[in-house]
Amino acid sequence: MKKILFVCLGNICRSPAANGVFASMIAGKNLAGAIACDSCGTGDWHIGQLPDARMRAAGARRGYAFSHRARQLRREDYADFDLIFAMDEENFRDLLARAPAGTDTGKIRRFADLCTGKFSGAGFVPDPYYGGEKDFEHALDMIENGCAALLRELTGA
Ligand code: 4NP
Repeated sequence: MKKILFVCLGNICRSPAANGVFASMIAGKNLAGAIACDSCGTGDWHIGQLPDARMRAAGARRGYAFSHRARQLRREDYADFDLIFAMDEENFRDLLARAPAGTDTGKIRRFADLCTGKFSGAGFVPDPYYGGEKDFEHALDMIENGCAALLRELTGA
């Protein structure tokens, strides 16, 4: 079983969307016994909350039902997950800074580095929280692109 963790700041916009999109791709390929995913935030402000209503609406327009409950990054996550993807550079730095001694930090990667085509080289998934509908759409576009690439990486397809 390969375990993947998506990490952003609040765990109500980008990482729960990545989690929902990737879980849907895993299920669609009948890989639920081989690949698992989860998401969390570096911050604690939104613990227990559903994804932001604007991200749930953007997901619903594409057929996803995002239902993750926000949680904060835990010390055990570093050992429990095989790959940990940061949505932006602040998340990436925080993940490295909080890594317990002995962590294989090579498992901590930038989600945007998965992205291909028009998103290659983007560097990070912009935070849509203070933006509008088009910013949520853009985040989801990047998330779908990166998750498809991750699935190809994991399955060798
Ligand atoms: P996320 O977006 O990191 O993609 O979940 C944010 C959600 C909440 C806040 C910031 C970013 N906040 O400041 O509360």
